[in-house]
Amino acid sequence: MQDISLSLRKQNETIGFVPTMGYLHKGHISLIEKAKKDCTKVILSIFVNPTQFGKGEDYEKYPKDLNRDKILAETAGSDYVFVPSVGEMYAENFKASVKVKELDFVMCGSFRPGHFEGVCTVVAKLFNIALPHRAYFGLKDYQQYLIIKKMVEDLNFPLQIVGCPIIREDDGVAMSSRNKYLSKSERKNAAILVECLNQAANLIKGGFTNLEDIHNTMCEKLSGNPYVSKVDYFDFRDSETLENISSIDKHDFKRSGSNLLIACAIRIGGTRLIDNMVFDIGRVT
Ligand code: PAJ
Repeated sequence: MQDISLSLRKQNETIGFVPTMGYLHKGHISLIEKAKKDCTKVILSIFVNPTQFGKGEDYEKYPKDLNRDKILAETAGSDYVFVPSVGEMYAENFKASVKVKELDFVMCGSFRPGHFEGVCTVVAKLFNIALPHRAYFGLKDYQQYLIIKKMVEDLNFPLQIVGCPIIREDDGVAMSSRNKYLSKSERKNAAILVECLNQAANLIKGGFTNLEDIHNTMCEKLSGNPYVSKVDYFDFRDSETLENISSIDKHDFKRSGSNLLIACAIRIGGTRLIDNMVFDIGRVT
């Protein structure tokens, strides 16, 4: 793959790269299509990375359908599909690790210790293999996007990270490979996640500034749904620093040049779902 990328670069092609764990859906496809618009060659990687899964998580049962993925990838505009094996990516004596401090303490980081270190390490490897000019990430995994952007900035990777909008189902549920785990009634109830995000945003638009109150109301609503087995977090954070925000009035958005991130993670049965919304606080207040 690296040899191909080196020769593409020699031919002055612009390489767009979309890293995924496969079982492609319209969210992934939107990244490929955006890459195709911006770049002359698109590389998609499919690799279910063991090091970003914790004990008891779904590494073994992560959904796979490589033949279908290849067809979808090609139709969407991928020129190459890179599918390395675990052994190729991690030799027996593999020792390196990439960690972005602090941004990985909070939100999903505190519920999935080691997860973002696993993500950064594999993404750094994939960047060095695919040698892209631009790499495309979904804002669905907002914390991942921010951490990768910081890794690229701090470690001088010569590429640009492009964040792409969240693609949703008709009822607003964010597309995710993990939605496959949900039963029919669980899937129906999963819409509570985006409903709560919208409700919180509407309260803020309506003039509520005490985010702790909104947090409590939303946690109560989520826990009250019989299908929600656990609320990991429902957080209000600075979209650049991930600093916790308890009151809009007391946070200086202008100073940090950032927006308000509302992010949430819940479990429906045994399935962990995440979603978020970022909006320009300047337009809200
Ligand atoms: P995966 O969950 O397969 O997601 C691959 C990319 O698709 C990520 O950038 C993710 O944010 C984006 N994506 C997923 N659902 C989306 C949606 N509904 N709308 C828009 N984009 C969406 O994220 C990973 O894989 C891995 O952690 C990876 C970066 C590949 C490292 O192993």
